[in-house]
Amino acid sequence: MKKVDLLYEGKAKKVYTTEDPDILIVDYKDDATAMDGLKRGTIVGKGAINNRMTNHIFKLLEKEGIPTHYVEELSDRETAVKKVEIVPLEVIIRNITAGSFAKKMGVEEGIVFKRPTLEFSYKNDDLHDPFINKYYALSLELATEEEIDTITEYAFKVNEVMKKYFDSLGIDLVDFKIEFGRHKGQIILADEVSPDTCRLWDKETHEKLDKDRFRRDMGNVEDAYNEVFRRLGIEDRK
Ligand code: C5P
Repeated sequence: MKKVDLLYEGKAKKVYTTEDPDILIVDYKDDATAMDGLKRGTIVGKGAINNRMTNHIFKLLEKEGIPTHYVEELSDRETAVKKVEIVPLEVIIRNITAGSFAKKMGVEEGIVFKRPTLEFSYKNDDLHDPFINKYYALSLELATEEEIDTITEYAFKVNEVMKKYFDSLGIDLVDFKIEFGRHKGQIILADEVSPDTCRLWDKETHEKLDKDRFRRDMGNVEDAYNEVFRRLGIEDRK
């Protein structure tokens, strides 16, 4: 499968069309941004880690009954995916307080919830992805009620599967952001699951193994990404 035209270049990925109108190729970059694009940098090797980790997790989720856009890994950084119409909602699930939740709600980081919580942001760069709820999303006609209910059900299921899996790797899944798309009338999981989009803390030491090391200038960013990748046990490509 070959790239034809550059369709879109985002902060961390480039997306290309292919000869098949139903298939796109995602090419992951090492570029990193934070603070709404104000902070920019490079995390060496991130593109390959995020690509291969996303594919590994998406295959696991597919086995557990969650449909995803994954088609085929083409190289360390490139993957063929089903073309979707992205639902403009960032879906965030939290198991432990951290980040914007801790700040907004005036609580410390690290408090384990008795049950996970979910929030939506409206994917809109001009508005800086504001916090919205299901009723705003319905009023703005971002998705139908049935789609939002499916997204909610899938998001909690993704959390159940990933929480258990990361736990087996000695990692606490603190929180994460996922995105969904419409494909042939169905809601499927799209975008990525990586240390860019998840908060991952070592269970023993509580060391942060995710993008917060970049966001907060904590150092050892590449080491953290490599450590997560190592624990996933993904074999080298032939
Ligand atoms: O910053 P906040 O606490 O709201 O982030 C919650 C989770 O969503 C974190 O795991 C973060 O990495 C992820 N996130 C993301 N992209 C955004 C905002 C948050 O991947 N634009």
